[in-house]
Amino acid sequence: RQHLLTVDSLNRERVDHLLRVATRMEPIAQRRQVTRVLEGAVLGNLFFEASTRTRVSFNAAFCRLGGSVCDTTGFTFSSMAKGESLYDTSRVMSGYCDAIVMRHPDQGSVAEFAAATNVPVINGGDGPGEHPSQALLDIYTIDKEFQRLGKSLGGAHILLTGDLKYGRTVHSLIKLLSLYGPLRITLVSPPGLEMPSQLVDLVTSRGHHVEQRNSLASDFSDLDVVYATRIQKERFTDEMNESFQGLSNDFMVNRDFLDQRCSEHTIVMHPLPRDSRPGANDLNVDLNGDPRLAIFRQTDNGIPMRMAIFATLLEVDELVEKEMRPVRW
Ligand code: CP
Repeated sequence: RQHLLTVDSLNRERVDHLLRVATRMEPIAQRRQVTRVLEGAVLGNLFFEASTRTRVSFNAAFCRLGGSVCDTTGFTFSSMAKGESLYDTSRVMSGYCDAIVMRHPDQGSVAEFAAATNVPVINGGDGPGEHPSQALLDIYTIDKEFQRLGKSLGGAHILLTGDLKYGRTVHSLIKLLSLYGPLRITLVSPPGLEMPSQLVDLVTSRGHHVEQRNSLASDFSDLDVVYATRIQKERFTDEMNESFQGLSNDFMVNRDFLDQRCSEHTIVMHPLPRDSRPGANDLNVDLNGDPRLAIFRQTDNGIPMRMAIFATLLEVDELVEKEMRPVRW
């Protein structure tokens, strides 16, 4: 069985396959059809860090394929609170479950867990490491939005902004984007929160044009996608918290930025959650209701893409279309 721990395991062909399978899942995700292809299968959903979208949408996706889900959230509800190791937890869970989704605050921990099991493990986010299913649903969203607008990824201009150092979604996304294109990628972050240089080097070596800046105050009239991210304060040291306290609103994606610097066709994405507390500066609520704001279309796309990931890892992806029937409710 294969795992999904990092997007490094995916080439263009595998990503395109997942996009096609996700499209086939849409009638189920939109609650017009049902299937039972995973009847009898049990998912272990192990979340040792806060989550709404990833935890609930993986759960819903597995249920919509006919499977059942066991959820564990937080260290206090796991025997890891009593000192049990990742290795032992993994061996135990393998006996109970047919697939496991895991989120953990430590980078590399999900891979360590996966090494001890023979059931497919999906990385639901490992600290500042990677978040491969989020990046896959992001590519699926970009593809759908571009189809609607009559655009293609070839030659597109994509802006990734916010905390590019600790934001695991952008670490996975920039690698997946680099399979397409050629692209123009602009990276904008506060000083000290830049994209890791090895990822910039990788994308550049694949023939993409990458620019890095510390301000959004530029002309983005040719921009196709702005992908904003939250400042990951929970990953900061006390010293960093102090130095980023006065972070200005220069990195805020809001109506002024979109109307004055971008175009009427620029799509706004964000992995969410966006920080709605005073002083937060990622994505302003003044864009709510603007058709360019794709964030809730993006969250909806999490269901068909996560269904596609399960169906492919558990090798029922060719069965789903044959075993679909209309809903009775
Ligand atoms: N995008 C994302 O991972 O959201 P959650 O933290 O709510 O799962």
